[in-house]
Amino acid sequence: MPDHIFINKKIRCFNKKIQVGSDKSISIRSILLASQSIGISKISNLLESEDVLNTLKAIKKLGINYIKKKNVYHIQGFGLNSFKIKKNTIINAGNSGTLARLILGLLVKSKFKVKLIGDKSLSKRDFSRVIEPLRLFGANIKSKKNLLPIEILGTDFLRPITYNENIGSAQVKSCIIFCALNTPGKTIINSKISRNHTELMLKFLKYPIIVNQKQKVDKISVQGLHQFNAFEYNVPGDISSAAFFIVLTLLSKKSQIIIENVNVNKSRIGIIKILNKMGAGIQLKDKRNYNGELIANISVKGKNNLKAVNCPSKLNSAAIDEFLIIFLVAAKARGVSKFKDLGEMNKKESKRLDLGVKFLRLIGIKVERFKNNINIHGNPNLVLSSNFEIKNFLKDHRIFFLSCIAALTLGGNWKINDTKSANTSFPKFLKTLRLIGAKIN
Ligand code: S3P
Repeated sequence: MPDHIFINKKIRCFNKKIQVGSDKSISIRSILLASQSIGISKISNLLESEDVLNTLKAIKKLGINYIKKKNVYHIQGFGLNSFKIKKNTIINAGNSGTLARLILGLLVKSKFKVKLIGDKSLSKRDFSRVIEPLRLFGANIKSKKNLLPIEILGTDFLRPITYNENIGSAQVKSCIIFCALNTPGKTIINSKISRNHTELMLKFLKYPIIVNQKQKVDKISVQGLHQFNAFEYNVPGDISSAAFFIVLTLLSKKSQIIIENVNVNKSRIGIIKILNKMGAGIQLKDKRNYNGELIANISVKGKNNLKAVNCPSKLNSAAIDEFLIIFLVAAKARGVSKFKDLGEMNKKESKRLDLGVKFLRLIGIKVERFKNNINIHGNPNLVLSSNFEIKNFLKDHRIFFLSCIAALTLGGNWKINDTKSANTSFPKFLKTLRLIGAKIN
């Protein structure tokens, strides 16, 4: 089967109720925490994407067994520091920065050397952000130029740290929290605000973790070596996957969609806040709490009078994976949209800020760039009719999704390569698009 698709028809007006894939961040955390708990955890609606399947493979290599019964994964944990690590263990995190960074935090006491590797994209990403705090704990880590492969050899002498996390990276924060679980004493992280699923899950597990928010910093204190019991967890839908359907609907005249059971944690809904500033009128309906996370049904209607936004950078972290698709809305909005301080986008699966700008220019949108700030000159009348081919060299799933939504809303004849990249985070993406009427060859 060729690893590309063709789209040469805009999607016709639709009115649907859908569900998107389960949340990737929460799926990975639930597996890793189940591996540290005592007993059999039961996790339903786990996202079965490559990043998550690689997480399951990783814990299996570390001696944690699991089985799937119907829609539920049963994971047998033996408590903190109970990985059974064999000589020459190699863990392949594939494309997943989250898996790679979080699991390092759990490997600080390993008896034998563990080697962490990843795919081409992950091997280009900088790990200094986690290596530095882990070394402060006393972890024994080897890596050339802070890149993969990384070798980690555990130590028995870990000490708790106080760390200022200034990037606003949930991966860094969670890596430190995971290391703190296995470290005696109290670790303190002063963290620039970022997604807080790890903290919420630990609170749900009644783990002694305390979070105090002061201005833009979370002071998190974690008491180490507190064993916790296995748990049951039901993973909600992923707003980062819903994002593409939100924008598809918004840019499709007279269409409507309801996306059910999506996680709408405050630290994740930057896209909704930004699009609503542009006049999107997106509603979160039937909000409810589940396992400490906020869930809702997202209701969106097509709009043809969207206006430009001056995006406050305080929303950057809560929309960090969604900017590519937000840029597409800015391309169709009236006026000049401004986005600032987006340097972190270039540290993702590919250099997303560079590629986002390139993409907008490819479809004929004027973009001004000043370092990590961009101005997008929207064109509400933008309609495409020429041929486009998207190569996506680092196989970034979100570049693939963006290209499909652009093709379905703007027109033109598109060849979009690297279809398989969708498997990283949302294997049913194309199936869901077809369900609402997209014609894809
Ligand atoms: C994630 C955090 C974010 C995000 C990534 C998933 C997580 O990365 O971009 O897709 O699950 O913790 P950073 O923490 O590096 O910003």
